[in-house]
Amino acid sequence: MAYIDLANARKAKKDEFYTSLGDIEAEMHFYEPHFRGKVVLCNCDDPYESNFFKYFAMNFNYLGLKKLIATCYNGSPVADSELLLFPEEHTTDKKARKIVITEVQDNNGDGAIDLADVEWLIRNEKNVLTELKGNGDFRSDECIELLKEADIVVTNPPFSLFREYLAQLVNFNKQFIIIGNINAVSYKETFQLIKGNRLWLGASIHSGDREFRVPDDYPLNAAGQRIDEHGIKYIRVKGVRWFTNIDYPQRHEKLELYKKYDPEEYPKYDNYDAINVNVTNEIPKNYPDIMGVPITFLDKYSPDQFEIFGMSASAGYNAEIVGIPFLGKKDARPLIDGKNTYARIFIRQIK
Ligand SMILES: C[S@@+](CC[C@H](N)C(=O)[O-])C[C@H]1O[C@@H](n2cnc3c(N)ncnc32)[C@H](O)[C@@H]1O
Repeated sequence: MAYIDLANARKAKKDEFYTSLGDIEAEMHFYEPHFRGKVVLCNCDDPYESNFFKYFAMNFNYLGLKKLIATCYNGSPVADSELLLFPEEHTTDKKARKIVITEVQDNNGDGAIDLADVEWLIRNEKNVLTELKGNGDFRSDECIELLKEADIVVTNPPFSLFREYLAQLVNFNKQFIIIGNINAVSYKETFQLIKGNRLWLGASIHSGDREFRVPDDYPLNAAGQRIDEHGIKYIRVKGVRWFTNIDYPQRHEKLELYKKYDPEEYPKYDNYDAINVNVTNEIPKNYPDIMGVPITFLDKYSPDQFEIFGMSASAGYNAEIVGIPFLGKKDARPLIDGKNTYARIFIRQIK
């Protein structure tokens, strides 16, 4: 089966991938205690179609939220679709909107507190759903004001703006749980945060691919696509990961190591004083110095077990990124017997 690659999506500036409720629930589960009394902001989320908004609205009382804010960018390309969260309330005027919820009660008096009560709020309370002045860009002044008010930001941001989006969250010192692609790890800015223990991968996705809904007119030619009985299109995306700076206990579980160091099996690089490890699970348990491991090591990384020094992913040498002495000439990719190996992260076991 073929899959859509987010790197290509980025090139084509195709940013409309809608995260499934199941994927959101599976990840948020790990942070439940963090949400109590907090203001949650979903700032790339049309309240009509975003499952991030839906998840926090449905669980507003369960999580003990103080406030939920969602903003969207210039309306929605799936506006005409039949399967919206609140179809009766939906308009197709493509305006940027903001929704603010501070309380969810049994507004419609049906004995349950659920999404129908949020729908009731939207319909009956004037200040719940309002238009934004601008286009809803997360970098706009009015969206930045909302960001300042937020404690935790949770969304799937446009992948083409991932660097800028993350930089803004970090500049404003926010806690966040965002979904993106493992490729973002090799961005200089992202990697520096990971190395500095200010960003790590989330808890629920460490392999495989995930399904995202896409707009009806999305140009698809990959075999990973699906159209359901309502005509809604989905694609499967590989390399999806959550990125967060909120701690969760599983992140501190140590990787069980079983292999013994053998210089034949773990050769040193020509251009770094480090040994090469091809498979994360095969990190030799008794090697005390620096090792080069695949990028997917981060899926198993516990900051209590390993320290990260740097990364060598591209030919261009950057001392700040590489983080260990470079013994080569120009090309910074790790070499063994004159041959390039794959991108590597340089780590060492904590004694
Ligand atoms: C990957 S989609 C995810 C949508 C939603 N968060 C979800 O997961 O279902 C990213 C969304 O960001 C919106 N977007 C694009 N540029 C934006 C910007 N500059 N500011 C805010 N949102 C933007 C897109 O319209 C798109 O709906």
